[in-house]
Amino acid sequence: MACFSRRLPDSNDGSADVNGPALISKAMTLPRFELDNMKHHRPIRSFVKREGRMTRAQSQALEKLLPVYGVPDKTPVDFDRLFDRTAPRYLEIGFGMGTSLLVMAENHPENDYLGIEVHRPGVGKTLIELHQKALGNLKIINHDAIEILNGSIPEESLDGVYVFFPDPWQKKKHHKRRMVQDNFIHQIHRILKPGGVFHLATDWEDYAHHIMDVMTRSDGFTNTTGKRKYASRGDRPETKYERRGRRLGHVVRDLVFNKV
Ligand SMILES: C[S@@+](CC[C@H](N)C(=O)[O-])C[C@H]1O[C@@H](n2cnc3c(N)ncnc32)[C@H](O)[C@@H]1O
Repeated sequence: MACFSRRLPDSNDGSADVNGPALISKAMTLPRFELDNMKHHRPIRSFVKREGRMTRAQSQALEKLLPVYGVPDKTPVDFDRLFDRTAPRYLEIGFGMGTSLLVMAENHPENDYLGIEVHRPGVGKTLIELHQKALGNLKIINHDAIEILNGSIPEESLDGVYVFFPDPWQKKKHHKRRMVQDNFIHQIHRILKPGGVFHLATDWEDYAHHIMDVMTRSDGFTNTTGKRKYASRGDRPETKYERRGRRLGHVVRDLVFNKV
């Protein structure tokens, strides 16, 4: 079964697109404006693929369990068919090692969950636990969430979307890589049911301000706690990055919105 698990190129910062020898020699003969064009057509990714160490168990899980718990590579995703029932549905984007996603799926068997993550060791680890816990209400996509949102998630199909501790891309020149941008919010709005929840959390103060700015200027959402107010974490499970942030003395901010 083909599923959303295509291997991404070794460098996903877009540099792989223009650094091949053929393109380099071609680039040497191109006029300046065409070079600028090539540069500007590189996709700006919200991640850089650094696999780190992948254990043998994680790699086996990707090979053997992703075909079982992954999502068939057909678009758009048919949730009723995928979970063999109609239930409230939640999506977590960038679930890392799966800490929050697994807890939510285990604690709420009445809901269905989909997780999207590019980091293969994290996907492998999550698959192992998902299999051990025999959770029937959790499915995984190992792919760039931006591409999946754009093409594969049907309109008004989700009750909630979670983005917990997205990569902060601290340097100003990297801010364009931040996942939470106007286009991203537009897609989240499209896939949420009316009244659906969009819950984000970050331990980086200026990213929290940035998210608040983006969400406040979008007229498709209301802040559940009042204009420009941060929310309580509610029953959001603690994540790995959150623990790390707290150890560094960072303040964690939750932001919770409803689709109007
Ligand atoms: C800072 S980590 C946080 C992980 C987890 N949510 C946590 O709190 O422990 C951000 C995660 O988002 C993932 N990520 C970033 N951009 C992504 C994208 N476009 N599609 C899917 N995952 C993405 C990264 O691979 C990384 O695992």
